[in-house]
Amino acid sequence: MCGIVGYVGNRNVTDVLMQGLKSLEYRGYDSAGVAVRCDKNIKVIKSVGKIANLEEKLQGFNDKSTIGIGHTRWATHGEVNEVNCHPHSVNNVVLVHNGIIENYRELKRELELVGYSFLTDTDSEIIAALIDSYKGNKCDALVYAQMKMKGSYALVIMFDDEANTLYAMRKDSPLIVGIGENENFVASDISVILPYTKKYVDIEEGEVVKITKSEVLVYSENGLVDKKIKTALWSIEDAQKGGYEHFMLKEMNEEKDLCVKLYNKFIEDGNYSDDIPDISSYNDIDIVACGSAFYAATVGKYLIDTYVCDRSVRVNVDVASEYRYKKHFYGDKSLVIVVSQSGETADTLACLRMANSLNVDTLAIVNVPSSTIAKEAKLVMPMLAGPEIAVATTKGYFSQVLELSLIAQKLGYIKGTISKEEKKLLIETFENLKSYLIPLFEIDYSTIASKLWFKEHIYFIGRGIDYIVGLEASLKLKEISYIHSDVYQAGELKHGPIALIDNDTPVISIITNDEIKEKSLSNAIEAQSRGASLYLLASENVDTDNLKIDEIIRVPRISEFYQPLLNIIPFQFIAYEVAKLKGCDVDKPKNLAKSVTVE
Ligand code: F6R
Repeated sequence: MCGIVGYVGNRNVTDVLMQGLKSLEYRGYDSAGVAVRCDKNIKVIKSVGKIANLEEKLQGFNDKSTIGIGHTRWATHGEVNEVNCHPHSVNNVVLVHNGIIENYRELKRELELVGYSFLTDTDSEIIAALIDSYKGNKCDALVYAQMKMKGSYALVIMFDDEANTLYAMRKDSPLIVGIGENENFVASDISVILPYTKKYVDIEEGEVVKITKSEVLVYSENGLVDKKIKTALWSIEDAQKGGYEHFMLKEMNEEKDLCVKLYNKFIEDGNYSDDIPDISSYNDIDIVACGSAFYAATVGKYLIDTYVCDRSVRVNVDVASEYRYKKHFYGDKSLVIVVSQSGETADTLACLRMANSLNVDTLAIVNVPSSTIAKEAKLVMPMLAGPEIAVATTKGYFSQVLELSLIAQKLGYIKGTISKEEKKLLIETFENLKSYLIPLFEIDYSTIASKLWFKEHIYFIGRGIDYIVGLEASLKLKEISYIHSDVYQAGELKHGPIALIDNDTPVISIITNDEIKEKSLSNAIEAQSRGASLYLLASENVDTDNLKIDEIIRVPRISEFYQPLLNIIPFQFIAYEVAKLKGCDVDKPKNLAKSVTVE
């Protein structure tokens, strides 16, 4: 989604803005622009498409400017063109905006009545006019705009008549101020400031921030705020490719060490540590998330239902965009768990806020420590995955599944449905998880990818937890390779979807669940006898003698509490290899954004 960078200091501002915009590219965007102060006035340069197009336009722009703002736009109001691209200026005001102003039409009518006219179709231009329309002190103008606007915003503002200052404010959209030595930054994403500083302050709703190169003044309705300077835990190396061809490849490879990091954090002296939330006092648990995080949540529900099932706890999962509009009957033993890598997903955040406002206990499994979800949840379980830059999540999903598995294990142990011996075995398996994973990273997935990349439709089938992993496998494939893919419960195939099977339609069958492996295999063979070419991801004990299978990937059979973590790895790699063979932009697939901050 949209990204913001602002700078004031001694460096060449276009260099800082361009570097910042490049590090925001991963969020997804369709156009980009900057505004920089040149001597007496502010110059705005915009371009549609890649940041490289903007960079080209800036060549020859040989200004010594040291203050400016930049933006990557992901269109929500008005089509993708240069006019609608940010920064927007109205008279004395130039600004960049992330978010959506819900009452912008009403504000537009009011402003038109007092003589404003508008060039763009955006809600952001209305904000610039709104601020401009207030005659008086600049901070007061921003407070006036805060009072008038409904919706979400992160805003960085320059005034034509104030050469050395940036202003910023936010509501429901992330924005931080990076603190440097005789230079300061504003950014929607912490990765922007990491090449320069690790120090930052959060901006809270209702605050107005005035930034010069030597100071950052934050005002609330009670006057000047004494802000706590925080230190980012992520390093610049964490946010770079580190020699890998793509961020996605780097992030998949990080999964091996991530499980060790999570083991060290969550296991203490052979026991579940206090850092794993104890949810045993709740009998009604809703897990809410979007996309892959929702599929991770679905694994969590499966594990609790299957292994903790003692009728004392009911777990429901829902996608956040549905959950937020449903009626909920919470009791005093209700818990809402939200799962989010970015911590900014608008629908997930709305669900968290709804639960908080109804005084229901909330727990967030979240990766970005400075995110709104991390700040607002009553309890947080940090994902510890480090920055995830590729739009398609890999290590994020991995960490979410593992943390939900740990919550389920601890719950089962406390409730007595998991015995001491079982707990010991589970923890041993966790300790050895990396060694189960490594062989899966050594498989050459290019052969299977070479058989799939030109197909129009690919189907996954599985039962139980294998079906749930199929959901994520199918999403991964479609989002980065643009191949249509779907997943069915293997037993459902003959109730309709089998009609889709033609000669050579690839069907990928996932079979790692011991109890129902024979049934799953029969379903796969049913598809094959209708012409499907059959691919198998199967645990070692699935007997495939005398079967004609196009490709088979063997995975070790371990406890279901960890099996999904093994099963997903080959599918992440297959999606990656297929996308590469198709020449797709692996890290930045079309139409997608890393952090979905609009409904
Ligand atoms: C898929 C993907 C998305 C996200 C979803 C939720 O690869 O990345 O489906 O999982 O948009 O995002 P977060 O976890 O940031 O709330």
